[in-house]
Amino acid sequence: MVIGVPKEIKNNENRVALTPAGVSELRKFGHTVYVQVNAGSGSGFEDGEYIEAGAVMLPTIEEVYGIAEMIIKVKEPIESEYELIKEGQLLFTYFHFASSQDLTEAMIRRKAVCLAYETVEKTDRSLPLLIPMSEVAGRMAVQEGAKYLEKPQKGRGILLGGVPGVKPAHVLILGGGIVGTQAAKMAAGLGAHVTIMDISLPRLRYLSDIMPENVDTLMSNEYNIREAVKHSDLIIGAVLIPGTKAPHLVTREMLKLMRPGTVLVDVAVDQGGCIETCTPTTHENPTYVIDDVVHYCVANMPGAVPYTSTVALTNATLAYALQLANKGWQRACRENEELKRGLNVVDGRVVYQGVAEAFGLELTNVGDILRKEEEINA
Ligand SMILES: NC(=O)c1ccc[n+]([C@@H]2O[C@H](COP(=O)([O-])OP(=O)(O)OC[C@H]3O[C@@H](n4cnc5c(N)ncnc54)[C@H](O)[C@@H]3O)[C@@H](O)[C@H]2O)c1
Repeated sequence: MVIGVPKEIKNNENRVALTPAGVSELRKFGHTVYVQVNAGSGSGFEDGEYIEAGAVMLPTIEEVYGIAEMIIKVKEPIESEYELIKEGQLLFTYFHFASSQDLTEAMIRRKAVCLAYETVEKTDRSLPLLIPMSEVAGRMAVQEGAKYLEKPQKGRGILLGGVPGVKPAHVLILGGGIVGTQAAKMAAGLGAHVTIMDISLPRLRYLSDIMPENVDTLMSNEYNIREAVKHSDLIIGAVLIPGTKAPHLVTREMLKLMRPGTVLVDVAVDQGGCIETCTPTTHENPTYVIDDVVHYCVANMPGAVPYTSTVALTNATLAYALQLANKGWQRACRENEELKRGLNVVDGRVVYQGVAEAFGLELTNVGDILRKEEEINA
């Protein structure tokens, strides 16, 4: 298959969809890979490394879209890319269609085959192409929190791990899923005293088994949260209720119970945030202060560490990209339910329920499309 990797052009996006290692894997199976000049430079991968791995470099984005049967990207195409997409071209990337009617309609119009990273789903309902970014954000939450606890950053002026003879900081983590678990491991590793709250008792049992001694688990409820915020130095919001906005577990009125210089890192900001006073911020201007409490609410945390994020993402996407390249999307999706769930828009039709519902569009059964494609190719 002919595969194209364009340079990401969305504002502040430095990740790339394929590393030189990924190019080399695809080449091993006989595929041709075209990479746009400088596509990997934001993540620390230079053109020479791609060439050495067997890629052909193309100077413009037009040439990449023009030649490829499958485009592998990181972010959804932006408006200037819409017209470059060819009928029947396979696009494998994050789309988040439900948040953009404009994008959905453009992909329907272009009759592209859109396989969205965020809806590739395993039978246990886990989302293998979202997990790596949650892992990055969870670990980063502690690193950022530690930085903003420093006095010059308006924090309490406390070192997470303390020193011999001085108590460590208290870190409260709301939500013990992927983000919360990674955050807890980092904070505990730095020597902080950590409390993780979740509403799932089985999850709390699991965390209690695997976490080190300086991590406590606690049932998440209003009473426990209200008590815990009083003596926490860093509070990390990491809850998710799939398909809905995050609940406001830390209310505006609770800020008054906190000590001045407490830091809040609301990782769940992309789902509305679980801290009532959270509004999305950017890496250029990541924090603001309300009632002497520092808020960090960056909606795309992994964007600040593009090398780690690119490698983590491509570690997870490459196996799927290989299946798509080796078998073609039709057979790959027929034989792998996980990939089939990733199909959102196919040949001008919406095939993902959440997208159809979001914009009142007709839903086409993806199984019917795959069966028809099989008949045509038989
Ligand atoms: N800001 C960013 O850059 C960024 C990056 C990655 C992920 N995220 C977001 O982080 C959030 C967490 O993601 P995740 O992958 O860890 O999700 P996850 O599904 O693995 O974990 C969510 C956890 O929240 C728990 N939960 C639900 N309601 C709760 C409540 N009332 N109190 C306490 N816990 C509760 C669930 O039981 C679950 O264990 C999501 O909103 C995700 O979109 C943000």
